[in-house]
Amino acid sequence: MTTKTDGLPAATISRPEAGVSKDSLTITDNRTGKTYQVPIQDGTIKAMDLRQIKVAADDFGMMTYDPGFMNTASCKSRITFIDGDKGILNYRGYPIEELAEHSTYLETAYLLLNGELPTKTQYEAWVDKVTTHTFVHENVKDLMAGFRYDAHPMGMLASTVAALSTFYPDSKKVRDATERSRHVYRLIAKIPTLAAFAYRHSMGLPYIYPDNELSYPGNFVQMMFKTSELKYKVSPVLEKALDVLFILHADHEQNCSTSGMRGIGSSEADPYVAAAGAIGALYGPLHGGANEAVLRMLQEIGSKDKVPAFVKDVKESGGDVRLMGFGHRVYKNYDPRAKIIKKMADQVFEVTGRNSLLDIALELERIALSDEYFVKRKLYPNVDFYSGLIYQAMKFPTEMFCVLFAIPRMSGWLSQWQEMIEDKDQKIARPRQIYLGSGRRDYVPLHRRG
Ligand code: ACO
Repeated sequence: MTTKTDGLPAATISRPEAGVSKDSLTITDNRTGKTYQVPIQDGTIKAMDLRQIKVAADDFGMMTYDPGFMNTASCKSRITFIDGDKGILNYRGYPIEELAEHSTYLETAYLLLNGELPTKTQYEAWVDKVTTHTFVHENVKDLMAGFRYDAHPMGMLASTVAALSTFYPDSKKVRDATERSRHVYRLIAKIPTLAAFAYRHSMGLPYIYPDNELSYPGNFVQMMFKTSELKYKVSPVLEKALDVLFILHADHEQNCSTSGMRGIGSSEADPYVAAAGAIGALYGPLHGGANEAVLRMLQEIGSKDKVPAFVKDVKESGGDVRLMGFGHRVYKNYDPRAKIIKKMADQVFEVTGRNSLLDIALELERIALSDEYFVKRKLYPNVDFYSGLIYQAMKFPTEMFCVLFAIPRMSGWLSQWQEMIEDKDQKIARPRQIYLGSGRRDYVPLHRRG
């Protein structure tokens, strides 16, 4: 039988011959007429098994070509499960909806890192550890002072997280589990402090030290916004909303920044420089920078009546103009995180007042979800579509949106990094290429070139 899947060449399907394992793939190389049996495990074949497929003894062997890792598993993981077609996201088996309703960010971080929800004693010890490591070395302030007044906070965050590597040289001992765990809680504890310092620097405001009596999100908010009051009071609704946003952003399996963290970490670089690299990956507008881009897009559209014209532009641009906050490599359904955020927006707006851009966002979603262009391509709102509106209502400046993503994602990056270090299958990340450049050439001195 011959089948054809959209965009793919025809494949021949027949029953396996007697004696051939059902859990294998039979490949016939039509260049040589040779047939190979390749074992299938967990629905995958090992790319290295293809190397035996050669046209001659000195041939390098068959590789796969997969830019953007569209169909390549780079690791086996037990951390996060996503079913993009059904819109399911689970951390260590727990649905994101249940964690958002019942857990706290720090408990979720513990779950991601350790695989199990903590007991009460474990939880209290973990919260205490993170809370008492929120302070950064005073030299970090001097480092911050070197940035220009208009430096983007993501650039400052990446740089200062990398700089922590120089304060903790023992972090190089990545094979030592006790050492590793110290840097895990340090990074989770200190990233809100560095993030808030970056903001205060850009505002020309004095840095506010951590208040260890407050919750993780509460302390971050006070470091951002405290002025002359003796004790900053955080609205419980906003504190809870920020905690839920942190839970929703904590991990998302092998996305661009996590792959960055694993890739850099695979050379056994310390977790501070690896996390700084992951922050760089997150900063891009196609990844964590999208929530900032959504806000700018909504501001540019300006009013609800201009939405149809904008959607027309997107469709006619041939992919150049994108509806930011829409589409996802994995979700081909409504992003479950976007659903939770959309619901939560109402509670936040009750405290902060309604964000005027919400009407434009709702209209965009309404039109896009019924428009053939978006329906055909399975483009649905992703986590970034509504989060920016909430951040803006909470008075976070647009430049801080991606930072608000990086803070909780630190626990996901570190969980994935730990798993990678402990995984015996892992090696230094080093993809192959198909070389299409020139063959060998002789060097021509400058004075003889035309
Ligand atoms: N607006 C309009 N068209 C889009 C969009 C969009 N947001 N996203 C994808 N498309 C179109 C593409 O033009 C392409 O059309 P074509 O088949 O006619 O060429 C098709 O849908 C498939 O798009 P790809 O770029 O191949 O999809 P991919 O999986 O590589 O990209 C991505 C996913 C990068 C998220 C993309 O959807 C995008 O750019 N979205 C906007 C940015 C965004 O919101 N990013 C945040 C993602 S969530 C996160 O990282 C936390």
